[in-house]
Amino acid sequence: MYKEFDKRVDEILAKLTLKQKIGQLNQIQQPLNVEQAELVKKWIKEGLVGSIIQAGTSTAGNDGQDGVRVDEFNEFQRIAVEESDSGIPLIFGRDVIHGHHTVMPIPLAGAAAFNPEITEKAYRCVAKEAAADNIHWTFSPMMDICTDPRWGRMVEGVGEDPYLASRVAEATIKGFQGDDLSDENSLAACAKHYLGYGFSEGGRDYHRTEISDYTLYNKVLPPFRASVAAGVATVMSSFNDINGQPVTSSKKYLTDILRGKLGFEGFVVTDWATVSRLVNQGVCENVRDSAKAAINAGVDMDMVSKTFMNELESLVLSGEVSEDIIDEAVRRVLRIKIAKGLFERPYCAEREIDMQEHIAVSREFAAESMVLLKNNGVLPLKNEGTVALAGPMLRAKRELLGTWVLDGKADIAPSFLEAFSSVAGENIKIITDKGSTVLDDSLAPFYNSDVIVLALGESHEVTGEARSVADISISKSQVELAKWAKSLGKKTVGVLFCGRPLALSEIEPYLDGILCAWHCGTETATAAAEILFGDRVPCGKTPVTFPRCTGQIPIYYNSTVAITGVCSYYGQAAERSYCDMLGTPLYPFGFGLSYTKFNISAISCNKTEIPLADIKNGESFVFSVDVANVGEFDGKETVQLYIHDKISSIMRPVRELKGFKKVLIKKGETANIEFNIGKTHLGFYGNNGEYLLEKGEFDIFVGGNCLTNNKITVKVI
Ligand code: NOJ
Repeated sequence: MYKEFDKRVDEILAKLTLKQKIGQLNQIQQPLNVEQAELVKKWIKEGLVGSIIQAGTSTAGNDGQDGVRVDEFNEFQRIAVEESDSGIPLIFGRDVIHGHHTVMPIPLAGAAAFNPEITEKAYRCVAKEAAADNIHWTFSPMMDICTDPRWGRMVEGVGEDPYLASRVAEATIKGFQGDDLSDENSLAACAKHYLGYGFSEGGRDYHRTEISDYTLYNKVLPPFRASVAAGVATVMSSFNDINGQPVTSSKKYLTDILRGKLGFEGFVVTDWATVSRLVNQGVCENVRDSAKAAINAGVDMDMVSKTFMNELESLVLSGEVSEDIIDEAVRRVLRIKIAKGLFERPYCAEREIDMQEHIAVSREFAAESMVLLKNNGVLPLKNEGTVALAGPMLRAKRELLGTWVLDGKADIAPSFLEAFSSVAGENIKIITDKGSTVLDDSLAPFYNSDVIVLALGESHEVTGEARSVADISISKSQVELAKWAKSLGKKTVGVLFCGRPLALSEIEPYLDGILCAWHCGTETATAAAEILFGDRVPCGKTPVTFPRCTGQIPIYYNSTVAITGVCSYYGQAAERSYCDMLGTPLYPFGFGLSYTKFNISAISCNKTEIPLADIKNGESFVFSVDVANVGEFDGKETVQLYIHDKISSIMRPVRELKGFKKVLIKKGETANIEFNIGKTHLGFYGNNGEYLLEKGEFDIFVGGNCLTNNKITVKVI
């Protein structure tokens, strides 16, 4: 898809000196002071720079950052275009992860929306805002499958399921890149972290990973395959090694699989200083070796280590790196610069952005993402009486935006206290904890309330890059608070603002209702308050399992059976997994309650068997269910289809998500939902990455979460 620009690319390439070519492969960090800025200008003029990352530190997602500097970057661009010999425009990248000035839900929460349409719409808004600030390229979406919520970066990903992750990847990339990457409102996207970073051992950030070929091809790679098919412009090579082989020096991953098997035509940028860090990883003796290893493996652009800038020329002159390899890397970078329209429109023109429209989208996306985990009839709240509010997140603002917010405005995000007060009708009396963080006399008036709502959770500071935790349990003080609230004999609701599935076993018995509101960006608090009062009906489904306790990690729905033929996740011999804990999750993948009630009919199917040859030729099973809304509210249900390949040459998961549809059904109405299931759903990847379709029986499950027992069996003969 990007090769279509190659004629123009080759004309440009033919005029470049070796030094200028290598310059295109060099991404530098934004200057932090006047001296650095002068040096950067000099390098740009000499053709030594291809890109600038608008970040000051490697862990920009958690550090306070300067705002964007539109004019200064226009000046850098002017020097590149008008004063350097090659005249090639720079491409400016920034971590615009889940929002720019308007902040959308953290990606993990966004996945809970199970809604590609709103995802695409939201990321279109994000692209518009960022593009207006002289940003051409974002380092998003992150596609790391992860089953370990201790890892702080689970927040940036899409949870534990590759099918859902693939759909989210497509929608996010479409939102960022639009129909036309050269549009002034589009951003080039970057699928990251390629590959396997989500398997960091023990959830410790930057650590090694050990990934079997089966897991690699069937779980880790699919979202990247989908990203490439969706036309993602760039891919980021990750920090980690896989089985002892750093990805950044791996021809297998960067060339044979990414370009060979997946057909990627854009360019690969490394993660922060990953080239020079090959020395730390012990596979290169010095940075010269690391430059050689990375370029030969298939890296195109070196993020900030300056190793390509300093070493590649002499490596080519000494014959250790062929100029053809350099040409190929430059070709890929130029393809994207052309596709992005940078040659035609290198500068950023000032323009007005309608933030109000984006804030409305952010609220809708937030509401779609929140997951009602428990409801003993306390929700929605009544529109009268006295509500008592307490909890450590009651007045939080910045926390609600989540990690990786470089340009988001916390001051426009209402706190939960503010939002709750403005959404509550005038018939509601609100009393608060008056800012107390301990159980003291200031809470005495709570005796007079009808219901207590606790704003709970965790700070964004314990999520994101280099922010892992050893224990995912909600804090003891919050458990004490809920226990105390319950001891007053009041109905108690917990609203959880978090960036990971927290372990809630300790607190859950004291709460009559639990809404997982995540860190959902600018409109987190308002969307949560609207859900509590029933102005919106909850409809999110969790994209990740909620473990009962940290010790259950990893626990995920798409596991295989034990040798005993059972899978404890599904409640079979669940007490045998541990002596001190059940093997079932607290809340399973795909789970989320509504205020209304849906009845899903038995599954019907157009055929009970199809010959393998016909499946290979594109024939598919059509499964259908009727979904009746028999409750008291209009509401949305996410109908999920799972398969289980019963006998196979490799052990297959007990259930695998292969389709979902989110539908709005008015109360009293019924919707018919159909799924076409064929060759892309029924096969799997073998250990060499070959796609295998085999004969056999398949159980098909259709329901409201992964535990459904609504099943039909079909055969591929
Ligand atoms: C390191 C992070 O791993 C990556 O996700 C990010 O895009 C880069 N830093 C650039 O800030």
